[in-house]
Amino acid sequence: MTIQNNPENNPGHEQEETASAETTLFEVIGGAGKLREMVDRFYDLMELEPEFAGIRALHPPTMEGSRDKLYWFLSGWMGGPSLYIEKFGHPRLRARHLPYAIAGGERDQWLRCMAWAMQDVGIDEALQQRLMQSFYETANWMRNRQG
Ligand code: HEM
Repeated sequence: MTIQNNPENNPGHEQEETASAETTLFEVIGGAGKLREMVDRFYDLMELEPEFAGIRALHPPTMEGSRDKLYWFLSGWMGGPSLYIEKFGHPRLRARHLPYAIAGGERDQWLRCMAWAMQDVGIDEALQQRLMQSFYETANWMRNRQG
C-alpha cells in the first residue's frame, strides 16, 4: 500500500505502539467475531438511540448492507483480512461519503455511537482509547460541510 499516511489506511500507527509487526489490531480486538459484534452493536445503537437520529437518517432504510460494509472495511483497516478491498477495490472513503452531508455534528454522533458500541461489547479500555483516536482522524477527515 502506498497510502500509509491516509487516515483511511493508518488506523493505529501499529509500528509505534503496542501491536508489533506480528500482532494486528484485528487480533488484539479479538478477531472477526468480536469485530462483527462491535459493528452490529454500533448499528443497533444507531437504530435505537434518538441522539443518533441525524446519522441514522443519512443511511438507507435497511442497514444490513451498511453493517457488512463497515465490518469488511474495519477488518482490513485493523490489519485483518482485506475483505472490503477484495470486493470493491480501494475504499475511497471520503469520496464515497460525499453524497451525505457530514459536518461536525454528524462526525460527533458517529464517534459517540462507536464509543458506546465499544463500551457495550467490552473492548479493553486502553484499546478503546487508541481506536477512538484513529476513528476521530478518519471521521474528521470525512467532513464535507461547514458546521
Ligand atoms: C463522520 C461520520 C460518518 C457518517 C455520518 C457516515 C455515514 C455513512 C453513510 C450514510 C454511509 C452509506 C451507507 C450505505 O450505503 O449503506 C456510509 C458508508 C460507509 N462508511 Fe461511513 N460515515 C461516517 C464515518 C465513517 C467512518 C469514520 C468510517 C470508517 C472508519 C466509515 C466507513 C464507512 C464504510 C466502509 C462505508 C461503506 C462505503 C461503500 O462501500 O459504499 N464511515 N457511511
